[in-house]
Amino acid sequence: MEPDFKKIIREAKGLMSEEDYRELYHEAIKIGKGTIVEIGPARGAGTIVLGLAARQNSDIEHIITIDSFQNSRSIKSFDNIEENIEDLRNNLAAFDCGEKVTIMVAGHEDWELIRECPITMLVIDADGALDRDFSNYYNLLTPGARVFVDDCEAKLNSHVRLYYTRERTGYTDNPEEDAGGYLEKISPLGKECMTRCFIDYLIREGFLEVLSKGHKAITFKKSEPSLLFSETNLTEMQQIRERMKEELIAIRSKTMRIAGRLRPQLQEIQEKTGCEEILVMKGVPMDRDIRYYPIYGIGKDGKRASDIGRIYEKDIHKSGYGDKQVLLLKTRRLLKKDKYALVISGLPDQKPFCIPLKRKRSLVSALDAVETETQQLFKSLELSSL
Ligand SMILES: C[S@@+](CC[C@H](N)C(=O)[O-])C[C@H]1O[C@@H](n2cnc3c(N)ncnc32)[C@H](O)[C@@H]1O
Repeated sequence: MEPDFKKIIREAKGLMSEEDYRELYHEAIKIGKGTIVEIGPARGAGTIVLGLAARQNSDIEHIITIDSFQNSRSIKSFDNIEENIEDLRNNLAAFDCGEKVTIMVAGHEDWELIRECPITMLVIDADGALDRDFSNYYNLLTPGARVFVDDCEAKLNSHVRLYYTRERTGYTDNPEEDAGGYLEKISPLGKECMTRCFIDYLIREGFLEVLSKGHKAITFKKSEPSLLFSETNLTEMQQIRERMKEELIAIRSKTMRIAGRLRPQLQEIQEKTGCEEILVMKGVPMDRDIRYYPIYGIGKDGKRASDIGRIYEKDIHKSGYGDKQVLLLKTRRLLKKDKYALVISGLPDQKPFCIPLKRKRSLVSALDAVETETQQLFKSLELSSL
């Protein structure tokens, strides 16, 4: 009988679809003698599926599952590695399927053990860095081994749309400087897009053959006869990441140009109030709160505003945030969903900031227009395979 995938998703907070867990299970129960390596188990839904498959398929001798167990919103604690490992162990124990599972922390893998395993299946659902994963594992896969990859899509995820492509991080109008640390992200255009570009490369170069496509995951077979994944392949994949950075800068210059239309209205407020900086934030519902992302800002003497990071509405006390004043721009229609905030700093004498209703309305409609145009830009982007 098939496992209860809904229950697994519910109890281990699985992030893939039921269809994709089912596909993973049916592939795993068919594979030959050897080891499964999973990268990015998070709280273990996929590992449970593999563990249950191992109870049906005695050829699955070992399941090695590797996660960074930190800096992710998909795990129980954001930064407590031990607690996250314990959570994964408990979830496996709840389904009584952990006996063949070895848990490893990314960056501290037991390579001696991994290298002596014939790997018959590789499951990847981590951060999109398939150049690293294929360079580590491809040559250890047995001929015809299965490779299951989640989130392979030509799209920008919401995090990238809100954050990498738009946040203002400094006093510069140069999109490259403005992108700052986002250019150093392992997946500059996000996991989905990066995975898609890398998978296209691996198919093009003859490393993988598509077996089936699920909801967001794809199952591949290691091509036969096997090719050797070389240093050159790694370099070529790293060049894809460089091209992705260029795309990110190009998108940023477009979003900056669109948002730049807010400047006259903001300058008028600045002149009227005598404040030093105004930052426009876009609110997005998150964790039963509203999280504000900076989308545009102006600073002193025609310059840009300084970085403020992201803020939750619950952290905005009365009208302020630290030494800054915050004005929430709620409109009735958008009350619960999207809304904007203005963060003002350097007001003379810290006078309370207020804005006449008429100006507030015209600012909200200007913000709506900028948002609509930005969304249209994202929709119209053709994400090439690089
Ligand atoms: C989308 S979640 C995985 C969801 C999970 N497979 C499931 O079925 O619910 C991505 C996971 O990848 C992990 N991760 C991020 N970078 C990693 C790395 N370099 N190596 C291994 N895991 C990583 C994150 O900690 C997170 O737990």
